[in-house]
Amino acid sequence: RVAYVNGTYRPHGQATVHVEDRGFQFADGVYEVWSIFDGRMADFDGHMTRLARSLTELRISIPMTRQALTQVLKETIRRNRVRNGIVYLQVTRGTARRDHPFPAEGTPPSVIVTARSIDPNKSEAVAAKGVAVITQPDIRWGRCDIKTVGLLPNVLAKQAARERGAYECWMVDEMGLVTEGSSTNAWIVDENGKLRTRDTQANILKGITRTALMALIADQDVELDERPFSVDEAKRAREAFFTAAGAFVMPAVSIDGVRIGDGKPGPITTKLRTLYLDQAR
Ligand code: PDD
Repeated sequence: RVAYVNGTYRPHGQATVHVEDRGFQFADGVYEVWSIFDGRMADFDGHMTRLARSLTELRISIPMTRQALTQVLKETIRRNRVRNGIVYLQVTRGTARRDHPFPAEGTPPSVIVTARSIDPNKSEAVAAKGVAVITQPDIRWGRCDIKTVGLLPNVLAKQAARERGAYECWMVDEMGLVTEGSSTNAWIVDENGKLRTRDTQANILKGITRTALMALIADQDVELDERPFSVDEAKRAREAFFTAAGAFVMPAVSIDGVRIGDGKPGPITTKLRTLYLDQAR
């Protein structure tokens, strides 16, 4: 395996950044993850546009054109021979003596790219059974719309899920409403048969998979209600699922140990997963 690090492709085991990289010391950086289907990146433009927005919000200026960046992503995928999997891009504010304010103008940002294969049969097997979700209070900061590498609350939430035999943790605000998953957007088919997912005016990431799915839903015979739902509503829901690059549309069959529907992936969820995968391929 190889990784791209600041202009060069290095063997994965030697692909390091400096100890004073601001990503390492301050989580001062952003990232994107694309799914790769048959060697091609899914929702390419959506992720690129969000990357540009994250960089702008943090005032990190990247000295690479979109074309050059695209080339690096493709080349990293090619060199790692990934047909199906994910590609990860991270940009930090660069390397400078540790000091909280931004480093001197002209300090080059760090750009790294990695790619790895994921066996599509394995993810299909997981999706066919559906997964367990737990919930925990959302303890994150006020700018979760920016895709930063500052993911400690998300890491703790995901670990809590794993320790309870679950796949994902849905985070919950003070009102008892689900914000999003630790690395996914949360959805339900509510008691009235409406699709519900939280609006992105609130403090969550505007998922690219979420946006792509919404476009597909527009042609379907199901009503979309972009409105937050509570943990109680989720537990009473007909179906539940979550979306992200890599997970696509993943059925949730229990929430905090409460069975959703008949404990199997629901018909609408299954349909949406197929729709998403068909257009992504
Ligand atoms: N996570 N919400 C959060 C907090 C996320 O980290 C992600 C993505 C999403 C879904 O966004 P998208 O559909 O654009 O992937 C929602 C990536 C996959 C990760 O951290 O690995």
